[in-house]
Amino acid sequence: MRVFVADHPLITHKLTVLRDKNTPSPVFRLLVEELVTLLAYEATRDVSVEKFGIETPVTATVGVKLSRPRPIIVPILRAGLGMLEGIVKLLPTAEVGFLGIKRNEETLEPFTYANRLPEDLSGRQVYIIDPMLATGGTLIDSINYVFERGAKDVTCICLIGAPEGVAAVEKRFGDRDVKIVLGALDSHLNEKGYIVPGLGDAGDRLFGTAD
Ligand code: URA
Repeated sequence: MRVFVADHPLITHKLTVLRDKNTPSPVFRLLVEELVTLLAYEATRDVSVEKFGIETPVTATVGVKLSRPRPIIVPILRAGLGMLEGIVKLLPTAEVGFLGIKRNEETLEPFTYANRLPEDLSGRQVYIIDPMLATGGTLIDSINYVFERGAKDVTCICLIGAPEGVAAVEKRFGDRDVKIVLGALDSHLNEKGYIVPGLGDAGDRLFGTAD
């Protein structure tokens, strides 16, 4: 497993505005989209491509295009939906599948309540998007789910991670082809499972408090 924490002033600047509790939802949504596009640039560094020939106005040359099978993007409902636009801008031909995983707020254990993914993910590169890597429970379930269906490798894009969550994913998938791309690695989780300093509940800040 590899972990990449973005170290770019523009990313930190945009994250700072997201963290501010006074940032309203429309601005929050826009910034999430921009941040995901920036993080997706790093996250897709290993995307599979194949060579093919083209003619420029000057000469014949060889370029690359995305390999088949196409990569698949999996937003974790509901907060991951807020990240979708930001990554499909960069990978417009990718397929999109959905996983609905929710935390039990008392036990902090995740459970799967919706899934719209191909049964067979053999040879597919999977991009899981979820804004907050907190305990790691949701991400571990999601990664496990796609590996069980044959995924070749898994890249997770999260805006903010907690060390506890990164350690939990590392413990479970340390020897697998998993990459985690974070906008920031924060201090710790509080007793309610929120990332500190974090940005609060990402789903609520994106979409309001409807459950
Ligand atoms: N989920 C969130 O939305 N925020 C956190 O801080 C932790 C989990």
